[in-house]
Amino acid sequence: MSARSIEVLATPDALAQRAADLVVALAADALAARGRFVVALAGGSTPEKAYRLLAQTPGLDWTRWHVLFGDERYVGSSDPRSNYHMARNALLQHVPIPEEQVYPILPSWPTAAEEAVAYERRVGHLLPDLDLLLLGLGDDGHTLSLFPGQPALAATTLVTWSPPGVLPPPVDRVTLTFRAANLARNAVFLVSGAGKAATLARVLDADADARQLPAAGIQPVTGSVTWLVDAAAAAALPA
Ligand code: 6PG
Repeated sequence: MSARSIEVLATPDALAQRAADLVVALAADALAARGRFVVALAGGSTPEKAYRLLAQTPGLDWTRWHVLFGDERYVGSSDPRSNYHMARNALLQHVPIPEEQVYPILPSWPTAAEEAVAYERRVGHLLPDLDLLLLGLGDDGHTLSLFPGQPALAATTLVTWSPPGVLPPPVDRVTLTFRAANLARNAVFLVSGAGKAATLARVLDADADARQLPAAGIQPVTGSVTWLVDAAAAAALPA
């Protein structure tokens, strides 16, 4: 069982600040220990505030960051539904990470399935050295683009594809698999809002079934899991 910690922050802004501070701390640790920081960014809406705070953080050695994506909607990079589009606007275009060290998942192939194979070829060598995997939680219990009951949950590769889940947007996805996610030294979930409260309590329950609640399947083999949640999302957690 991975080491797990849960931090409840009073507000969404406090959550974003704590998340940015934790990323900065983990980056410093990685640079000191291994000379580079390998991070996979989360998509969705929750991380955006933290990315904007990161972009304003002085004194970071961005030149030694390697930025992957935990998952992506199979749409163009200028599509507002794209996770890369959000991360580029909030963070990547504001900081001097060398372009060759940013690895977006782009619709370069006719299908998401083909892009998944191509992405694994591009980033597979970095995944065993993944310092930080940032994650969100869908209110259906998904994380990355690992949706309840979908074949992607059983993938043995490092990257796979998935048809749309029940939550929007209804587009194919490319996603890291459990095998890749559980290589991470640090998996950090950012969960905000009352709409996530019931699902968060189910996912954190010891009996959670990862086939129905995929976020419960994030259990790094040797790494840790940190849940950064705001008070509204934590409302259904046991006292
Ligand atoms: C995506 C994300 C997904 C997200 C959750 C939570 O592509 O949608 O990777 O896993 O993290 O759906 O999304 P919100 O932060 O928007 O609630």
